[in-house]
Parts: sequence; structure tokens; C-alpha cells
Amino acid sequence: MAEVIIVSDAQAAGELVADEIARLISVKPDAVLGLATGSTPVPVYRALTSRLDGIDISGVRGFALDEYVGLDASHPESYRTVIAREVIEPLGLNPDNVHVPRGELVDMEHAGVDFEAKIAEAGGVDIQLLGIGTDGHIGFNEQGSSMASRTRIKALSPQTRYDNSRFFGSLEHVPTHAITQGLGTILEARHLVLLAFGFGKSVAVAAAVEGPVSAMTPASVIQLHPHVTVIVDDEAASRLQLADYYRAAYAGKLPWQGL
Ligand code: PGA
Repeated sequence: MAEVIIVSDAQAAGELVADEIARLISVKPDAVLGLATGSTPVPVYRALTSRLDGIDISGVRGFALDEYVGLDASHPESYRTVIAREVIEPLGLNPDNVHVPRGELVDMEHAGVDFEAKIAEAGGVDIQLLGIGTDGHIGFNEQGSSMASRTRIKALSPQTRYDNSRFFGSLEHVPTHAITQGLGTILEARHLVLLAFGFGKSVAVAAAVEGPVSAMTPASVIQLHPHVTVIVDDEAASRLQLADYYRAAYAGKLPWQGL
């Protein structure tokens, strides 16, 4: 079963995950981070900035989960730009060490295979950050995605395009397709950390953590992974049947912090 840690707010979650990443980098200076975009991981990156003082991060590597297809890489909402703005620059990572799937229409045919090869060359992802869509997607693996899927192009669901329209000013400007690590790709990361905040995520969180493993809730694939940490605030946890158990078991701390 996943470790489900219920915290007071997104900032507390960010601090916990930053602790874990800083610990990882201290024992593995060339750690491979699986980076997520969207609003959810922002508190992690903020908290991490203050923990890296005096730590050599020149060897740290990163792989983004996904990218929009057909947006120019220089567009302010392309994930290449978002990762540069929110992760590479504030943390001071070496940009050559951070990879985002290629979303340009040229060479699209090989983009998925090339990206998978880069992850394999790096020795796999050590810690994969994940947000969750209100419809239960992770990365851009929409409902119905194969549990064995690899990095490939997916059409975005109407719900996802609506949810992400806040970044684009209006729905019509939201791209229709994305290239995303597959569920099978994500499962190969050594540690999955899924974060969710707010009531809007409560149905998806309960389905992912406690519902049946089903392509209708792509995030439920985390139940097949041996090391998963789910960190949620009270609102996102509000539909979890075992919330009292999770509170008693973890008391808002990472397992190693409670020892
Ligand atoms: P959000 O998106 O972090 O912006 O809520 C999560 C997701 O769609 O995976």
C-alpha cells in the first residue's frame, strides 16, 4: 500500500518532498529527478531552493513527464519553458542535464523512443514527482491509457483542456495533444511521489489510492508500484476511507522522519 501522508497545506507538502529530494542528492549527487509541471509541484521547487545552499547539484539530472505538442518551445507555457523558469533557473541545475520530451511537430515520430532512450541512459528516474488531474490522469495519460504505455502522443481530454485553460487565457489556445511518459514508463521510476491539494482533487485521489486499478483512473497504476508516497492536504484527503489510519500511521511525516 502507498504511504499516504496527510498534511495541513501545500507548503507543508512542499517542505516534506524537498527534505526527501535533498536527502537523496546528499547520498547520490547525480540523482535523477522526475519533474512534474502544473500548479501542484510548485511548493516543492520553492522549498527545495532553500535546501540546496552549499550542496553540489552540478551532477543532478532531470526528466520532465510531458510536453504539449505543436507549441513552439519558446512559448511561455511550453513545458520546456516552464521547467526552465520554475526548476532549472531557481534551483541552479545545469540545463544540459534536464530533458523535456520534444513537442515540435518535426521528428515527432521518434520523440517518444528518443526520450525513453535518454531516461535509460541516465539509469532510470530515482524520484518521480506526480500531480493528478481531476479526471485521474498522471502525466498526460488520460482515461483509458494502457497501464503498460510508453512515451507517446496523447489527445488531451476536454476536462484536461478546460483545467489547463487558466494557463492559456482561453480554451481555444490550449493545445489538443501532448507527448507524455507512459504509465509503464512512470512505473519504472524507483520512488513515486504523488501530490494533490484541494477538494477538486478528492475524487481522483480516492479513486487512485483506494479504488480498483483501472485504465479509467490512470493514476491507480501507482498501486502496482512497490514504493509510492502520496502527500495530500485535508481537502484532497476528504474522500479517503482510510484517512484516520493514514493520519495515525504517518502523522504528517515521511516514514524515515518518524523513526
Ligand atoms: P495541476 O495539474 O497540478 O495544475 O493541478 C495536475 C495534473 O494535471 O496532473
